[in-house]
Amino acid sequence: MPSSLYIHIPFCATKCYYCAFNTYSFYKEQAKIYLDALQTEIELYAPQTDPLRTIFIGGGTPSILSANALEQLFADIQKHFQICPDAEITVECNPGTVNGEKLSVMKNAGVNRLSFGLQAMQDETLRQLGRIHTVDEFLHSYHLAREHGFDSINIDLIFALPKQTKEAWQHTLSETIALEPEHISTYNLVMEESTPFYDWWKAGELVLPAEDTEADMFQWTIETLTSHGYTHYEICNFARPNREVKHNLVYWNNQEYVGLGVGACGYVDGVRYTNIRGIRPYIEALHQHKKPISETERLIGHAEKAETLMLALRKREGICLADYERRFGEKLEVEFGETIQKWTDLDLLEQNGTHLRFTQRGLFLANEVFVELM
Ligand SMILES: C[S@@+](CC[C@H](N)C(=O)[O-])C[C@H]1O[C@@H](n2cnc3c(N)ncnc32)[C@H](O)[C@@H]1O
Ligand code: SF4
Repeated sequence: MPSSLYIHIPFCATKCYYCAFNTYSFYKEQAKIYLDALQTEIELYAPQTDPLRTIFIGGGTPSILSANALEQLFADIQKHFQICPDAEITVECNPGTVNGEKLSVMKNAGVNRLSFGLQAMQDETLRQLGRIHTVDEFLHSYHLAREHGFDSINIDLIFALPKQTKEAWQHTLSETIALEPEHISTYNLVMEESTPFYDWWKAGELVLPAEDTEADMFQWTIETLTSHGYTHYEICNFARPNREVKHNLVYWNNQEYVGLGVGACGYVDGVRYTNIRGIRPYIEALHQHKKPISETERLIGHAEKAETLMLALRKREGICLADYERRFGEKLEVEFGETIQKWTDLDLLEQNGTHLRFTQRGLFLANEVFVELM
């Protein structure tokens, strides 16, 4: 049974201009109704899990909830799930929504990892992204979290932003490294349909850095972070020794997990499921004590093999050939021999005897490779 839990808190103060996540404006009353529904969903799924090794409260902005609501959420989780004493428990925080009271509640509830969305170290850029906080407000939240004893902190950054120069990105990354977070996620901007950024881009109002510049930024990111003691362990993720996110490794190893909340995905009993995306129908389903699932797919055969390969290739170490063989009772080459040969010839993939992984060159073209695998 799964021993990992994801919970989606779909509320944000306002929507950032680039973001297409399933989020809603925050109203206290609606959040209360949502959390009540979530409690029912927790009750429905708790018997289907082993003691939890990882919990990830993501969003949206979980830290937008009041201290009382956060306390209640953790009380519900603790009441229904068994949690391993050394479980990794992460909460995503928007720096504009954090205060001492909330941090104390999270700390007392056993949260041992925080993930801050910062994106950039320039106030002007934060404003252009539609972020609700300044750099100083981020620094205040970050240091407050340290004062509250959080010794495992991630910072999310985005590069290849409109008009962003290499120098601006270098400044963001250097200032972030100076804070010595245990983990740094560096995402390159994805232009998501149905966002203001996408519309402005299509209308020619946003100018993105050239592809070469984007590749230089990524290359520089890898070199800089690894030379500062961060391991590049997943395409977008860097960690100090032993600070890799255990929860995300469950995804990349294609292991099962329970996903709760509106629009959340989960993988239980060999079935991938996606929850209803609309907050009202989600709440209605739970009022009727029904699991709020909108789609399911049983992962078998080629689909399970391809997904396992794609997810594992995200890790810098790549896919463990022996693990694959244990899981599927056959060598990786049986299903993917030709494709692997093609990408190896193109210098996109390499093998070291135990693992198959992306070459440095392959890392930059990972998305193209994934599209072909699907
Ligand atoms: C759920 S948010 C993090 C917590 C909180 N909501 C916040 O933004 O501060 C997850 C992260 O996804 C990244 N992200 C969201 N939309 C993106 C996009 N279109 N392109 C690249 N990264 C994106 C951002 O770095 C963001 O911090
Ligand atoms: S980036 Fe974070 S704060 Fe901004 S809209 Fe998306 S989930 Fe909300």
